[in-house]
Amino acid sequence: MSSLKLALVGCGRISKRQIEAVQAVDGIDIVVVCDIDENKAKATAEQLNVPYTTDYKTLKDVDFVSVMTPSGMHPQHVIEIAEHTNIPYIICEKPISLTSREVFEMIDRVEKAGKTLLPVYQNRYNPLIVFLKNLIDTGKLGKIHQFVCNIFWNRNDEYFKIDWHGTKAYDGGVLYTQASHYVDMIHYLFGKIKNAYGVGGDIRKLEVHDSISAICEMQNGTVGALSATVSTYRTNYLTELTVIGEKGTIRLSGTNLNQIDFWDVEGMENPDMDFKLDHQYGKGHDTMYEYIVQKKWDMFPSREDVLSGIQLMERISF
Ligand SMILES: NC(=O)c1ccc[n+]([C@@H]2O[C@H](COP(=O)([O-])OP(=O)(O)OC[C@H]3O[C@@H](n4cnc5c(N)ncnc54)[C@H](O)[C@@H]3O)[C@@H](O)[C@H]2O)c1
Repeated sequence: MSSLKLALVGCGRISKRQIEAVQAVDGIDIVVVCDIDENKAKATAEQLNVPYTTDYKTLKDVDFVSVMTPSGMHPQHVIEIAEHTNIPYIICEKPISLTSREVFEMIDRVEKAGKTLLPVYQNRYNPLIVFLKNLIDTGKLGKIHQFVCNIFWNRNDEYFKIDWHGTKAYDGGVLYTQASHYVDMIHYLFGKIKNAYGVGGDIRKLEVHDSISAICEMQNGTVGALSATVSTYRTNYLTELTVIGEKGTIRLSGTNLNQIDFWDVEGMENPDMDFKLDHQYGKGHDTMYEYIVQKKWDMFPSREDVLSGIQLMERISF
């Protein structure tokens, strides 16, 4: 069987992780890259020994395209690729958009163009989150009373000198451009939101919040708190998820929720599923490309799921 052909759009930081992930999976190859910054496009093309373009509308003869451009540009870029190229599947980095209005339009226009949108929600593929989701959905933890989710990361002042970072129009703040897969995880595990209260911190004087603390009441009665920052001293510190259920308490932590810190679940030993990571993005992109090669479209979120997730994001972004 011949390999699937993939185009990359946006040759910045996250493209390096996606390139590693694609190269780790059999059955899919990067055949062309695109960036409006010709130097970046050329450097990535030379590294991969493939052609490049600076205009995504010229892309053709590929099966998939992965959009890795600045967050607030995703709707425009995805829509234009859907309407002006013949590429059937469009992968889009998180956050899919900064507003639910734009997500509505984006999904509608992609569907009208007869194309399929595949959002990158990589925490859904973290083996510990998959395991936890199964415990919750099968009732093994009983009713879920409470969760605490913390994302304590560092993005230094140099990072915020990159033109789009820290802007309202293209970055959206810590929950959108850094922690959005954690917000998606809360939505994935605990469902739709009923009420939320919180505050955002502005001490670094960006156009957006670099730190947010939110408390949430979910529609299923679970309550919880989420704190996210990109302002820890010097370096990334940790991610943490504690779940307090009627029949168990679980605490995950590590750079990307890759270790079990605490496990006390009725009738179930600690599953000993810790895994190691050599980068800060988790293993989710590798799994996502495996699902793409296997055509497991049900592993991607539905339209309704995407929409209610972005609505949760809006509710806790303050
Ligand atoms: N899933 C994750 O873990 C993860 C991690 C980091 C970033 N991201 C997301 O990936 C996206 C990109 O982030 P980044 O850190 O790589 O940013 P970056 O600034 O390093 O790269 C973005 C690239 O897009 C290019 N670009 C802009 N407009 C373009 C256009 N019209 N056509 C082609 N290229 C264009 C820029 O020139 C730049 O090279 C963001 O939405 C971010 O939230 C996801």
